[in-house]
Amino acid sequence: EPPVNVSTLHKMKEAGDAIACLTAYDASYAMLVDNAGTDLVLVGDSLGMVIQGHDTTVPVTVDDIIYHTRNVARGLRRAFLVADMPFMSYRNPDQALENSVALMQEGGAMMIKLEGGDSQIEIVKHLARHDIPVCAHLGLKPQSVHKIGGFKVQGREPEKAQHMIDSAQRLQDAGADIVLLECVPNELGKAVTEALDVPVIGIGAGPDVDGQILVLYDILDITTGRTPRFVKNFMAGHDSPGVALQSYVQAVKNRDYPAPEHCFS
Ligand code: KIV
Ligand code: NA
Repeated sequence: EPPVNVSTLHKMKEAGDAIACLTAYDASYAMLVDNAGTDLVLVGDSLGMVIQGHDTTVPVTVDDIIYHTRNVARGLRRAFLVADMPFMSYRNPDQALENSVALMQEGGAMMIKLEGGDSQIEIVKHLARHDIPVCAHLGLKPQSVHKIGGFKVQGREPEKAQHMIDSAQRLQDAGADIVLLECVPNELGKAVTEALDVPVIGIGAGPDVDGQILVLYDILDITTGRTPRFVKNFMAGHDSPGVALQSYVQAVKNRDYPAPEHCFS
C-alpha cells in the first residue's frame, strides 16, 4: 500500500472512510502501529506524561519531540507522521515557523500540530504560506490545563459550541489541513465535522467525526491511574499489543469505537 499523505486523508473524509490514528513515541511501537493499518501517527506531547512521567504536557521541549519523532519515523512505512508543537514553542509566527521546520527537517514530521483557536490564526496563515502542513487542535487544550483548572469537557454551553465551530472554520480558512477536536460533546463533534471540508479527528469527540485518535499507552492498558471516559482498553481479550492495535484500527474503521460509554453528550 502506498504511504498516506494529506490528499489520502482528504479523500477518506469525502468517501466517509474513518481515519484511524494513534500516538507513538518509539520505533518498535511505530512499527506495530503501522502494521496494524493506522493511517496517521502523532508524536504527541502526551509523551511528557506517558514517557517522562510528568503530570501535564507543559514541561515537554522541542528537542524532546524531535528525538521521539526521529525514532518513530524509522518505524513507519505507510502511516502519515504528525508531530506536536510543545508548550510555548509557537508564541509568534516566526518562532512557530522555526520550530516547525526543526520538527520536519530534524524529526522527519510531515505535519505539525498546535493547540488553540482564534489566537493561532496568524500563526497558521504564516505556516501555510510557507507550505508547512498544519493540524489545528481545538476543544480541550492540555497545554492550557493550569489556565483551565483541569482536564474538562469543552463547548457544553451553546455559545461556546458555536464559537468553536466558527474558530474551526477560521482555522481552515487560514490554511489548517486537519482539525483535531478533544473532549467535546458528540453534537459539537458532529457540527464541526459537517462545517469543515478538511478532516476532523476526534478524541473524546463522539462517533460523528472523520477519524479517531487515542494515546497508545491508554489503549494498551499501560497507563496507570484514572483514564478519561473516552479511553477503551484494547488489550482486553487479546494476547499481544500487535493484535490489540489491529482490533483498535478495525473498531475505528467499522465505527464500533467509540461506543456511547466513551462519549460526552
Ligand atoms: O499529545 C497527544 O497525544 C495529543 C493527542 C491525544 C491528540 O495531542
Ligand atoms: Na498533544
